[in-house]
Amino acid sequence: MTVNDQNDFDGLMRIGRIVGLTIKTMAEALRPGMTTAELDAIGAAYMKSQGAQSAPQLVYKFPSATCISINEEVAHGIAGDRVIKPGDLVNIDVSAELGGYFADSGSTFPVPPVRPEYQKICDTAKIALKRSIDAARAGQRINAIGKAVELEARAAGLNIIRELSGHGVGKSIHEKPSIPNYFTKRADDRLTDGLVITLEPFITNGSGRVYTADDNWTIKTPDGDRTAQYEHTIIVRHGAPVLVTAV
Ligand code: CO
Ligand code: CO
Repeated sequence: MTVNDQNDFDGLMRIGRIVGLTIKTMAEALRPGMTTAELDAIGAAYMKSQGAQSAPQLVYKFPSATCISINEEVAHGIAGDRVIKPGDLVNIDVSAELGGYFADSGSTFPVPPVRPEYQKICDTAKIALKRSIDAARAGQRINAIGKAVELEARAAGLNIIRELSGHGVGKSIHEKPSIPNYFTKRADDRLTDGLVITLEPFITNGSGRVYTADDNWTIKTPDGDRTAQYEHTIIVRHGAPVLVTAV
C-alpha cells in the first residue's frame, strides 16, 4: 500500500508497534527447554491483548500464530513440540492485522552458547538490513536494495536465500512489489514516497538453496546450514524511511 493520509499512517504505526512488541515479548520469554508452541502462545496472547490478529492465520490459515524457525529451518516454521536448545538460532517472524492494516517483522535470536560462525551470520544479516534501510529511498530503484544486501553477504563470505524476498505490505500481508535480496535488472521500478514495504535479508552459511518440508510450510536448507533473517516494515520517504515495526 501507499500511505495516503494520517489515518493510513496512524493505523500502520499502531499495528507496527504491536508487531514489534510481540517479538520483544517473545524474545524476553525465550529459554532453552521450552517448546516453540509455548513461545508461540506468549506471542498469541500478547497480540490478542492488543486486539490484533495473526496475519498468517487470518490470510493463509497458517497453523500457529507466529512463525518460529530453528537452525536448518529458514522461514515459516510451525510452532509445535520442538524444544529450544542451547546453541540454537531461533527466528521469530510476526505479522499481524488491526483495523485493516498489516505489519510484518522478524528477528533471529541466537541461544547461548553461540558458535562464532553462527554469530557472524546474524551480524551480517543485521548489517544487511541496515544497508537495505539506507538504500530504500523514494526515487531509487528497487534493485539498489538487493545490491546492498548482496555486497554485504559477499564481503562476509556468506550467501543469500534468493527465493525469499521483501514485499509490499499494509493492506494485506503480501503485496506488490517484491523486493529481492540480490541485484536483478528486472527489479528496476523506482520506489515511491509513502510506499510500504518490508526489508528482510536472509543470510546463510550454506549454498542458498532451500526446499519446502513435508508439512507444506516450513522452508529448510537441504544440508542443515544456518540462516539469519532480520525484517522491518518501513514507509519509503525521500529521506530516511519510517521504521514501522521498530520498538
Ligand atoms: Co515476516
Ligand atoms: Co515479510
